[in-house]
Amino acid sequence: MASVTLEHIKKVYDNNVTAVHDFNLEIKDKEFVVFVGPSGCGKSTTLRMIAGLEDISGGTLKIGDRIVNDVEPKDRDIAMVFQNYALYPHITVYENMAFSLRLRKMSNEEIYKRVTQAAEILGITEYLGRKPKQLSGGQRQRVAIGRAIVRDPAVFLMDEPLSNLDAKLRNQMRAEIILLRKRVDTTFVYVTHDQTEAMTLGDRIVVMKDGFIQQVGTPQEVFDTPINLFVAGFIGSPQMNFLKARLNKEAKGYTVELLGVKIPLNQDQNAALSQKGIGTQEITLGVRPEHTSVLFEKTEHAIECTIQVNEMMGSELHLHLSSLNKDSIIVRLPTIDLTQDQRSQLAYGNKMFITFPAKVMHLFDPKTEKNLIYS
Ligand SMILES: Nc1ncnc2c1ncn2[C@@H]1O[C@H](COP(=O)(O)OP(=O)(O)OP(=O)(O)O)[C@@H](O)[C@H]1O
Ligand SMILES: [Mg+2]
Repeated sequence: MASVTLEHIKKVYDNNVTAVHDFNLEIKDKEFVVFVGPSGCGKSTTLRMIAGLEDISGGTLKIGDRIVNDVEPKDRDIAMVFQNYALYPHITVYENMAFSLRLRKMSNEEIYKRVTQAAEILGITEYLGRKPKQLSGGQRQRVAIGRAIVRDPAVFLMDEPLSNLDAKLRNQMRAEIILLRKRVDTTFVYVTHDQTEAMTLGDRIVVMKDGFIQQVGTPQEVFDTPINLFVAGFIGSPQMNFLKARLNKEAKGYTVELLGVKIPLNQDQNAALSQKGIGTQEITLGVRPEHTSVLFEKTEHAIECTIQVNEMMGSELHLHLSSLNKDSIIVRLPTIDLTQDQRSQLAYGNKMFITFPAKVMHLFDPKTEKNLIYS
């Protein structure tokens, strides 16, 4: 158990690529933190610096109260699980899990205790006598995690541990990691490019892009109040819709105007905008697909759209719409209450109306890409 503190951590590779810029984060003891972001944003580099597998070019790294910038990986009291499991093929699952403990000259009795306990937690007891190649991908990944658990590390580091698994197994293992976390009560730093994994696993998530932290927060905070367009688009699936719109400051308060419709903002939004002294300006309006309602008839604040694609997902439809000024909009529509007549209206080329309440609207400055209210 330990906290991990990154102060102004920086990584410049030999080829002068700056992979991580001024990374500041305090990971609390027993916290589960997820680094998430697109390929190449510096997630693995940051994790590998914590592990000691990569030199730190600048800044201070602490595990607990100890500065570990120059401490050998084996002396950092961490264990890392990689994407490609890296099991030893010629020895049994038991010996794979026991390997690091034997290196530490632990007694056979203690090794037996730890390996069988970890195998129990992971549900792989019956495979202890097998070789890795006699296991499925998911079972191998469990062995790789088991190998880390037996070391009883202060900090668990995981770099995309599920990305080699098929979708079904990945969902199952994700749930198992949530359970695992309850059983092995320690600090986790987990890297993924998958926002669903980040949202479901993390106490807090760190959204990264191009070597910079974009936002740190609980999954709910990052979802509800994305600080900029990048975070807004990255978190949530299908992606948030972005529409060209205009913010009007009027005598009665602020309104958002798009496609001939004016939607008044709510009290909180009004207070925040006027406190920041924001005037009338062009904006990029963000609205999530699940926060948009479909109407079959025009109402006061409804926006006219044309159906482009209707994707049947079973419990819901994903409608791809285009607005009058060609913005494309995706809407999630539950199927359960749709009548046969309504279903038949949801065909390519038909007109529809959409609407959303003020509270689900995210307002971004098109130039700075920042959230006008939350940044
Ligand atoms: N050994 C290296 N030498 C030089 N540049 C590197 C090295 N390793 C990584 N980089 C660069 O550093 C940046 C960050 O890489 P990193 O592996 O940390 O990204 P990532 O977020 O883990 O991406 P992915 O999701 O693809 O694993 C990238 O631009 C990458 O090309
Ligand atoms: Mg990586």
